[in-house]
Amino acid sequence: MSAKIIDGLQVAASMRQEMKAQIDQRRQAGRQIPGLAVVLVGDNPASISYVRGKRKMAAEVGIHSEEHRFPADFTQAQLTLVIATLNQDPAIHGILVQLPLPPHIDESAIINTIDPGKDVDGLHPVNLGRLLRQEEGFLPCTPFGVQQLLVRSQIPVAGRHVVVVGRSSLVGRPLANMLLQKREGANATVTVCHTGTQDLGYFTRQAEILVVAAGRAAAITADMVQAGAVVIDVGVNRVEDATRKQGYRLVGDVDFSAVKEKASAITPVPGGVGPMTITMLLHNTLWAAQRPD
Ligand SMILES: NC(=O)c1ccc[n+]([C@@H]2O[C@H](COP(=O)([O-])OP(=O)(O)OC[C@H]3O[C@@H](n4cnc5c(N)ncnc54)[C@H](OP(=O)(O)O)[C@@H]3O)[C@@H](O)[C@H]2O)c1
Repeated sequence: MSAKIIDGLQVAASMRQEMKAQIDQRRQAGRQIPGLAVVLVGDNPASISYVRGKRKMAAEVGIHSEEHRFPADFTQAQLTLVIATLNQDPAIHGILVQLPLPPHIDESAIINTIDPGKDVDGLHPVNLGRLLRQEEGFLPCTPFGVQQLLVRSQIPVAGRHVVVVGRSSLVGRPLANMLLQKREGANATVTVCHTGTQDLGYFTRQAEILVVAAGRAAAITADMVQAGAVVIDVGVNRVEDATRKQGYRLVGDVDFSAVKEKASAITPVPGGVGPMTITMLLHNTLWAAQRPD
């Protein structure tokens, strides 16, 4: 039997509708509109397109957004100054620095300069530390999106064995930490796999929920998945496709057509985790504006 397709576009759209209603209410009550500053250095086409997408969706829900765009030779000192100014700006509740930054800029050092109370990407060490300690803080958008996708698709996580493939600071590691917390939408038994894992399939076959964030097309084939498992594919990879105008198409890390015949539920790529990521950024920005100082 073919798996249920988990529709990230639809879940994300319904979350944004809820946010829009909350922001409309704020406006009607004469309260401040949430503000998001997006900082972009250089002219990486993918980054430009991500920033455009984020600002478009921010506008859709009624979040005020500003783009602060600088040339590729902008210095680390100049960028630090920009962030210091945004940290002080009362109209801005969230600051997002679009990654990657040009190689002459130390990304970690820049993230460290963002006020943790405006770190809507959830990548500041204070917020990652809060996550480890199970304290309230901003959660990184992609893992937060994965968790919300599970919760809103009524897929129970508590007590189940989740296997996460990938241990990046952006996705795998925070996700593993989120899902093992003793709270609602979590409380799972979590295994994390990476390139040092011997016999990846041995572990992935034990997953009741398999989350793959490896960045390798077809890293997960049908023989690596337990019948009836839930499969969440975070990966986004370009593969050549002469039938497409751009010459490529986007695929995940999972061999979708074969695995969907074995899994009970699966996310497509595109249209799965991707739409959730931007939506969680907006969610974090709204939350930043709602928090008492
Ligand atoms: N949809 C979205 O919104 C969204 C957001 C963020 C990322 N992504 C996508 O998600 C994927 C992962 O992103 P990332 O930033 O986490 O990537 P990353 O920093 O390259 O990390 C990849 C992780 O996967 C592990 N890995 C790679 N190949 C593996 C293999 N064959 N077997 C087992 N483990 C393997 C690596 O292990 P080592 O640590 O041992 O190197 C690493 O921990 C990418 O395709 C990215 O484009 C999507």
